[in-house]
Amino acid sequence: MMIQSKAQVLWNKAIGSLYYKIGMACDAEFSKAVPGQFVMLSLDSSLEPLLRRPFSIHKPIVQNGHYVGIEVLYKVVGTFTRKLVAAGPEAQIDVIGPLGNGFHIADTPQRSYLVAGGIGVAPMVFLAQRLKDGGSPPELNTVFLGGQSTQDLLCREDFEKLNMRIHLTTDDGTSGDQCLVTDPLALAVQTKCPDIIYACGPPAMLKCVAGIAEHHQIRCQMSIETIMACGIGACLGCNVEMRQGPQKYQHVCVDGPIFEADAIVI
Ligand SMILES: Cc1cc2nc3c(=O)[nH]c(=O)nc-3n(C[C@H](O)[C@H](O)[C@H](O)COP(=O)(O)OP(=O)(O)OC[C@H]3O[C@@H](n4cnc5c(N)ncnc54)[C@H](O)[C@@H]3O)c2cc1C
Ligand code: FES
Repeated sequence: MMIQSKAQVLWNKAIGSLYYKIGMACDAEFSKAVPGQFVMLSLDSSLEPLLRRPFSIHKPIVQNGHYVGIEVLYKVVGTFTRKLVAAGPEAQIDVIGPLGNGFHIADTPQRSYLVAGGIGVAPMVFLAQRLKDGGSPPELNTVFLGGQSTQDLLCREDFEKLNMRIHLTTDDGTSGDQCLVTDPLALAVQTKCPDIIYACGPPAMLKCVAGIAEHHQIRCQMSIETIMACGIGACLGCNVEMRQGPQKYQHVCVDGPIFEADAIVI
């Protein structure tokens, strides 16, 4: 069930100069969130911007075995995220969620490749944790983490804690291999074909991942980002074109944000 609630900021920590992690104490309903789902945030104190903004649920916050709230990992890019940076522990955030669907997680462990470009890593830590909690041994899961530079390679330590194998790539060669994140992915699928690929990142990356998956006939799920005005299917502003089926377009906010790669036009 989706709800709207006020959330008290627990922390809002900078990770380098561009990225932040904000922890919020949220209603217990948010504890039912699954990896891939998102929230629409607005700042209580501010009418600018008027529209809420969508953010993936990065992690549930659990303290002493009790659910406390959720954490969002965000990149500072514009009006809302610049204001969010200033939200201290006394601030209240207006949160609607959990919204959308989640990644498919099989009942029995599968070989999974998780591909993240830049801030696209945001939903992947929650997914990796749930794969582990579901009994998937770490050696079955490989993470491909790419960014423009070292500062864009986020959450490496989270995947390391889960003992997952990690391939790092950067455009400028400051960490990992100097190549696209899809290059080691393409090599890896030739060596060991996974049962599923999960991807989140910029459109060019998603297009390439979808191509690799299609070529090797691997199931591939991707988190799609569009500009969203409402997040609840009311404004019709977040269309994604479907390859086939009765509906030419679906809404990323209610039918997604997770889509089968072979179902959509990327
Ligand atoms: C389902 C979903 C999950 C998301 N999860 C995260 C997340 O976990 N962390 C995170 O940092 N961001 C995430 N985003 C993107 C985030 O919503 C935008 O970065 C945010 O809305 C920008 O708001 P702003 O007011 O700071 O920037 P604006 O001033 O609105 O825009 C600044 C720039 O960012 C671009 N932009 C705005 N919204 C989007 C968008 N949705 N996708 C791509 N570009 C956009 C604009 O075109 C403009 O160039 C997600 C988006 C969606 C749809
Ligand atoms: S964001 Fe309004 S319909 Fe999807």
